[in-house]
Amino acid sequence: MTEQAGPVRVPRGLAGVSVSDTRISKSSSDGSLVYRGYPIAELAAKATFEETAYLVLNGKLPTRGELDSFAATLAGLSGVDGKVFEVMRALGPGAHPIDAIRTGVSALGSIDPARSSPGRQHSIESKMSALAANSRRVPAGEEPRRPGEGRGFAESLLQMLTAREATEFERWVFERVLIFYMEHDMNASTFTVRVVASTLADPYAAASAGLASLKGPLHGGANEAAMEMLLQVKSPGDAKDFVDSTVKQGKKLMGFGHRVYKEFDPRARLCKQYLREMAERRGGDGGIYGVCEAVEGEMWERKRIPPNLDYYAAPIFYLLGIEVPLYTPVFAASRVFGWMAHYNEQVEENKLIRPDSTYIGPTGLTYRPIGERQR
Ligand code: ACO
Repeated sequence: MTEQAGPVRVPRGLAGVSVSDTRISKSSSDGSLVYRGYPIAELAAKATFEETAYLVLNGKLPTRGELDSFAATLAGLSGVDGKVFEVMRALGPGAHPIDAIRTGVSALGSIDPARSSPGRQHSIESKMSALAANSRRVPAGEEPRRPGEGRGFAESLLQMLTAREATEFERWVFERVLIFYMEHDMNASTFTVRVVASTLADPYAAASAGLASLKGPLHGGANEAAMEMLLQVKSPGDAKDFVDSTVKQGKKLMGFGHRVYKEFDPRARLCKQYLREMAERRGGDGGIYGVCEAVEGEMWERKRIPPNLDYYAAPIFYLLGIEVPLYTPVFAASRVFGWMAHYNEQVEENKLIRPDSTYIGPTGLTYRPIGERQR
């Protein structure tokens, strides 16, 4: 009789385990990140949000005609039906914004006119922007803000979030941050999306699962947690005590650390430059850049842990005037494009994702009727 091999044991948290081949993006421990072969710094310097989204979804940069058509499709699908907002409004003012978006995406799965058409993924990608921007307003009973006509994806989202006209440089920076948030190989929410896609559930189901995964403070929720943390540090001189006491209490500093990047996160480096330039152009930032740099320095000194994207995206959002509870929704509005690229890649080369586990509980227990059970 041949002995049956047991399941392959993998490290906790699947750290260092490759669960899939992908052609979409790759982050590496040397601090590099590529989308479809293009270095992130190159895209940040030269590409628009729509060009990058097209690249991530289709595997190639668009021609002028393809780009215009893609941008027009997104703009044309961006309006959200009032019925979806009604469902979100029913959640009431205390609703967490990510729960509100997730509820909106679930509702779309049943009532989106595009839900049975090939364009349904673009409908989700495009509508996520208005769902994110209104994820606090609508449950609070306020009127939804609608996407602005003639504006690109990033500009329209920023306008809905802040209801003010940003400067050209602010819009440019916001668009870069969205490009960074769009895609990041096998992170927790993308893996979640791929698990759902592997069951051949529809993309609305996959996107709502991705949102659930993104909500947590160890993933998407970190940008809000990082900002709340930075606001506690009143000046650069307080950074050392703050880092010391947080580490001594065994707590994590939000916006630091990464499963892949151990030396630096290339997105955080670029955001740090943008933040500094924003502060200089404004002629002051209330001291936020100085605090960020001081906390980063203390953290490196003490733990050799670098900041991640969330750490420097958060103060950029702050200076742009975006409310802190909307930071993770902004992340979602961009990441949905990466999720849909992974959804398609999973379905095209599908194998149901169904791992095994090692049972370490008791065995052979005897059932006793309830009256005979001891406490
Ligand atoms: N603050 C303090 N210590 C930290 C931090 C941190 N932010 N991150 C890691 N460490 C320490 C851990 O305590 C652990 O120390 P130990 O070995 O002495 O126990 C060691 O570094 C390894 O940390 P893990 O959490 O095991 O590393 P992992 O790869 O699993 O975690 C993670 C990565 C979850 C991102 C972690 O760094 C973290 O919790 N960071 C804070 C949350 C955060 O910023 N998340 C955003 C991620 S990026 C994104 O979603 C865009």
